[in-house]
Amino acid sequence: MSSPLAKDKKSVLDKLLIKFHKKASHSNRIDILSALFIEEIQALAIDQKDTIRLLDIGCGDMTITNILGQKGTNIQCTGVDIYPNTKNWENYTEFDGKRLPFADKSYDVVLFSDVLHHDAENMNRLLQEAKRVANFIIIKDHFEYGFFSRSLLQLADIIGNYGYGVSIPKRYFSKKRFQAVLATEELQEIKSICPIYLYNHLPLMKYIFKGKYQFVSIIKTS
Ligand SMILES: C[S@@+](CC[C@H](N)C(=O)[O-])C[C@H]1O[C@@H](n2cnc3c(N)ncnc32)[C@H](O)[C@@H]1O
Repeated sequence: MSSPLAKDKKSVLDKLLIKFHKKASHSNRIDILSALFIEEIQALAIDQKDTIRLLDIGCGDMTITNILGQKGTNIQCTGVDIYPNTKNWENYTEFDGKRLPFADKSYDVVLFSDVLHHDAENMNRLLQEAKRVANFIIIKDHFEYGFFSRSLLQLADIIGNYGYGVSIPKRYFSKKRFQAVLATEELQEIKSICPIYLYNHLPLMKYIFKGKYQFVSIIKTS
């Protein structure tokens, strides 16, 4: 989970957290999620054409965006986030975190990978915008089941995101709340994937950060 665009200057603590996070879980998470996203995107009932247009909202450092574009050979990726394009990425657009600067149905798929829980205030608006610009939405996020899992997820978010300056959420989706959000926005879930095991490579962590804390939801918007 990374967004190196957020903080211009990083403290020693920020750098230590980033180093620890990269070593412990970052690359494994990226590999597992990228493979899962490509598989699910390819499986969508998208009209027979050469290219699948994907919009990665909250793309952070574009790692996942670029892997999807490289490994998913027919996937054409654009990333958007709320920070300026300091790295001059070609396929990146900054936006205000609310209104997407794209025409209706100009994408096949929108991806939110660990984004929605970071902005509860704009979450519904982002989903409405995703529905407007794309035919499918893929959401990767976390489920909490009570105080213990919420605290663990917050700890993971501090390790994974604090160093980058990304805000830490007060709570995560429960299964019930996630379904209520989809119902409010009239979004039809066509597939739900949970558990997802991101930490099986770490001896103790796999028992603590359980697979059921991670989910992917595939949604059809029209
Ligand atoms: C945990 S990072 C995830 C980065 C990347 N998607 C991944 O999975 O590695 C969360 C990202 O969401 C972005 N974000 C937060 N609020 C947002 C909003 N309203 N619109 C778009 N992106 C937002 C942050 O800037 C950050 O880059």
